[in-house]
Amino acid sequence: MLIVIDKLLNKNEVAQMRARLDGSGWLDGADTAGSRSIAVKQNLQLPRGDALAQELGNAILRKLGNHPEFVSASLAEKIWPPVFNCYRDGGHYGTHSDAALMRLPEAGLSIRSDLSATLFLTEPDEYDGGELVAETAFGAQSVKLEAGDMVLYPSSSLHQVTPVTRGQRICAITWIQSAVADEGARALLYDLDCSIRALTPDRAKDDADINRLIHVYHNLLRRWAQV
Ligand code: NI
Repeated sequence: MLIVIDKLLNKNEVAQMRARLDGSGWLDGADTAGSRSIAVKQNLQLPRGDALAQELGNAILRKLGNHPEFVSASLAEKIWPPVFNCYRDGGHYGTHSDAALMRLPEAGLSIRSDLSATLFLTEPDEYDGGELVAETAFGAQSVKLEAGDMVLYPSSSLHQVTPVTRGQRICAITWIQSAVADEGARALLYDLDCSIRALTPDRAKDDADINRLIHVYHNLLRRWAQV
């Protein structure tokens, strides 16, 4: 299942981030690809440890932690420091799957990637191509979102970024270890939570049916979560 987190950043926040990223020291992204991925990856990235990438990445992490839709959809337990990348001049990332286990020894961080996330920082009309295409149970789905929007997709899916043939596509990407590893269980919890959040405003604070739904939600979470 692909889930879109609308307006993680507003247009003003996107513009500020873009201004900081313009002229930053992009490096060949193949430097960070695995031996299989290196053959299919052609993009630019900000190097790990880059001060600007860390500062902007932390700003994104704070936004994610405060966004109810992201929290509900991901049940994030650990989040990888966001990576900034730029595709231009035919840049692309051919069909690949993301590494299941990711380690950052210098930060003492080790995660199992359950969800992959792409935050778009350029508007769709600024570039041609650059679609994120993920293979799902219902066939290939193509995603190209407005700047400030984020898509979450299963890290287990095969996916690609199609060649950027005009302009440039700047994104931040990250990976999430969820407290609920099973995608189907996580999707059920997300559906249930969406309905609870939709129904709650119209009900009394002590509404017995809402309380029972919340009770069911937390007991399923207790049953399925690993923390
Ligand atoms: Ni990928």
